[in-house]
Amino acid sequence: MSKPSDQPSLRWEDHTIVTLDQRALPHERLLLRLDTVDDVITAVTTLAVRGAPSIGLAGALGVALSAYAHCSPGSTGGQQAVRADAQRLAAARPTAVNLAWAVDRALGRLADGPDAVLAEATAMIEEDREVNRQMVAHAVQAVRDRCPQRPLRLLTHCNTGRLATAAVGTALGTILALADAGEVTEVLVDETRPLLQGARLTAWELAEAGVPHRVCVDSAAAAAMRQGLVDCVLVGADRITARGDVANKIGTYGLAIAAAHHDIPFIVVAPESSWDRSLADGRDIVIEERAADEVTSFGAVRTTPRGTRAYNPAFDVTPASLITAIVSEHGVHHASEVRT
Ligand code: MRU
Repeated sequence: MSKPSDQPSLRWEDHTIVTLDQRALPHERLLLRLDTVDDVITAVTTLAVRGAPSIGLAGALGVALSAYAHCSPGSTGGQQAVRADAQRLAAARPTAVNLAWAVDRALGRLADGPDAVLAEATAMIEEDREVNRQMVAHAVQAVRDRCPQRPLRLLTHCNTGRLATAAVGTALGTILALADAGEVTEVLVDETRPLLQGARLTAWELAEAGVPHRVCVDSAAAAAMRQGLVDCVLVGADRITARGDVANKIGTYGLAIAAAHHDIPFIVVAPESSWDRSLADGRDIVIEERAADEVTSFGAVRTTPRGTRAYNPAFDVTPASLITAIVSEHGVHHASEVRT
């Protein structure tokens, strides 16, 4: 099995943020340089940078860009402008709590000057790498504990790998670790309509790592479970409430219902920074609604009659009762084991 790149998805280089443009994958490996806060906001809203931990890190580095633009060392002038930029950054995507959390954390160092803000943001990248490693170790064990029959057929949704974090990823990092241990027969990858993060990005990461996989349309997942093709479902999270309701990419809720119906473990892998304990009920999570043309067109080709309106929530909420386990860097947070 080949080793995927160990580079973080984002880095700071010569006063810019450098990242892979995820919109161009899998066809092109384009490097994107983000010089201004507006560049960062555009990259996050257009999903050039995406995945909850990655957008958090982009937001934190965005605060550093703003601090260098507005604050001179030793002067407190310009802090208002940085706070205004931080608010715009945090609002770029509303559902993943990691974004507001990371922006706030970087902003917390503003009084110490731009270098301190940057040091905090880059420390967060290093932390995320360590968090990935710990979380994956716990999640591998959580899967082994619940799926005694191996090797495994796994199903995943969206992209939760190295593009979405600073290291190996969350759910996909777990899948890669299990595959590395020779415990995976095949991964079924939901294509993840409408922006195809599964088909474009997860399939790309699995191919890069040499892990056998097939892409399926999202609506094939329940049928695959019924046919006995899935031993465990692994997904990530954008926000987790105090009682363990999980917001994640649209389609996750349907997967959880299907998994519960077929008695298949449904495991969420997400860092502590995805928890929002200020909310109890998942119905209070703000769900981002995206542009209609993501649904009414495929690529540049319209697929619906002119004027057709669309319902396009980017995320849904899976209630805790449907989730077998939620794993973070601290271990298994929540294991309702609803079906036992
Ligand atoms: O809209 P996206 O592509 O940013 O949505 C990403 C997801 O839903 C991921 O599952 C989640 O952010 C976890 S990434 C480790």
